Formats: sequence, C-alpha cells, structure tokens
Amino acid sequence: MKGFLQLQTTIRKCLFPAAGYGTRFLPATKAIPKEMLPVLTKPLLQYGVEEAIEAGINTMAIVTGRGKRAIEDHFDISYELEHQIKNTTKESFLTEIRKVITNCTFSYTRQIEMKGLGHAILTGETLIGEEPFAVILADDLCDNADEGVLAQMVKLYDRYRCSIVAVEEVPLEETNKYGVVAVKKMDDFGEVDNLTQSNASALSEEMLFQVTNMVEKPDPKDAPSNLAIIGRYILTPDIFAILKETKPGKGGEIQITDALLEQAKQGKVIAYKFRGKRFDCGSVDGFVAATNYFYKKSEK
Ligand code: UTP
Repeated sequence: MKGFLQLQTTIRKCLFPAAGYGTRFLPATKAIPKEMLPVLTKPLLQYGVEEAIEAGINTMAIVTGRGKRAIEDHFDISYELEHQIKNTTKESFLTEIRKVITNCTFSYTRQIEMKGLGHAILTGETLIGEEPFAVILADDLCDNADEGVLAQMVKLYDRYRCSIVAVEEVPLEETNKYGVVAVKKMDDFGEVDNLTQSNASALSEEMLFQVTNMVEKPDPKDAPSNLAIIGRYILTPDIFAILKETKPGKGGEIQITDALLEQAKQGKVIAYKFRGKRFDCGSVDGFVAATNYFYKKSEK
C-alpha cells in the first residue's frame, strides 16, 4: 500500500451514476428517472444521498441523462409548494428533504451516450477531480441499524487508502447479474491508520478480502466465487486514467469491473462484506421487498 499514503484522507464527494434507462421498470421509467421511484414516500436517490451524509459526505455529484430533470428539481426548493403548505400539518413532510438541501451541495453532469457504468463514472470526473470518492448506485438500497454501509466503507478507507467494493454472497445461479470477485486473505495489506477500538470490534477477518480477480456477470460455472459487487464503491482517482484506457467489455459497455481489475492487479482493491441489508430496487422483486421492509420498519 506504499505510495498511497499521500492520498487525501477523507472522502468528501459521492458520485451517483443515474443516467441509465431503467428498462426493467418500463413503462414507469419512460418519463420518470428510475432513481426517483419512491420506496414509501422517499425517492431511491434521496435514500442514497442520506446514506452519503451519514458517512460524513456533503458534496453530491450526480451523473444524469436525458429525461432526468426531476432529479435536479427534487434537490432544490419548490417555492410554490413551500408557500402552499406553510403553517399546515403537511409542512413536516418536507423536513427531511429540506435538511438534505441545506446541508449539501449538488452538482450535475450529463452522460450523453449510455455506454455503461464505467463510462458514467468517467463522465463524473469533471465533478470529482483528483481525489478519492464514493460511488452509490441508488437502485441498490441499503439499510443497517447502527451504521450505514457507506459509513462503514469510509472508515475502512481511512485505514487502508485504496479502492473498496462492497460485496454480498449471492446464490450461485445469480452470479450472471453482478460483477463477481475472486479474493484472498488480507495478509499483505498494510494499515495506514488504526481503527478506534469500537470500529475495529465491528470488523471481523471474514469481512475483508484482497481482490485478486473480477469477472463481469459470469455464468455460474465460470464464477470465481459467489461474492457479488453491489452498488457501493470507494474509488481512488487513478481509476479515471484507467477508465480512459478501458475498452468496452461485457455487453459492449465500459465496465467499472474491468477498470477495477487493473487496480486489483496492483493489489489495491479490497472487497468488504458489509453489515446490513441490500435490496436490488432495479428489479421489480427487489423493489417490492424493499417497500415491504421499509413499511414494516415505519410501523415500529
Ligand atoms: P443498470 O445496470 O441497473 O442499468 O445500471 P439501467 O439502465 O439503470 O437499468 P435497466 O437494466 O435498463 O433496467 C446500474 C447503475 O448505473 C447507472 C444506472 O443509472 C444505475 O444507477 N448507469 C448505467 C449509468 O449512469 N449510465 C450507463 O450508461 C449505465
């Protein structure tokens, strides 16, 4: 891990690639961005932004595309609406989003052609610059009681200063939906910083691995493991230079997995089995499961 010590310590920015077409949710996503579909009363993207805030991040960088204006309007004040509901009981419905708008800055850039997640992340370079950053795919909705998934990863970054992917064990027959990692024990990773006792106790050895290989959407028979990458990443800024050289891969898209593999070859990628639940809200089944879960939670 030498050579990475000079990297900035804190993660200040979170990138939200949100330019995809969301075809699995047509016709709902014909005019509404997938990231704006609500679980209960809150859009998926707002859950993601709140997770980033909990991780200590207040600069949100969003990669949008055509037909995604609703995203910018959501993270802005609606004077007419505010005026209408002022001093009524309904005012409280806007409390959470007001807090988000007041505490964060939002910047946007457009991905002109949908050339894949890797390409969307590269498009975000102009908003991120030369610093390590977090990535949240808002259609992967995560929840954890004591500490959000991104907050867990930011702490790990403080310790190891390298790219980190959140992984989850999936049934082998589902590996063809994910980027899948091959891993080994973390034996040759130096620590940059010691975790405090309370943070360290939340981690066990079985949660952290060094990534040795990555395959995008492998057939179960070719999958190197059943550890699938979900929509949470911490990336070091050298990823941009790598992405510029990355050729289209699986599905003709520029894959972030292919770029991460280049970092992994230098021993610079950690896979983290996070604490918490994850719902694939890009699929109807996952979306319904998330809705039921958050509804039950809201009743408590
Ligand atoms: P998905 O693989 O879920 O694709 O992208 P999608 O287009 O959103 O949805 P389907 O498969 O057609 O239903 C994963 C994440 O990457 C973003 C998406 O917005 C989503 O957050 N993405 C993907 C981009 O921003 N640009 C792309 O070119 C592709």
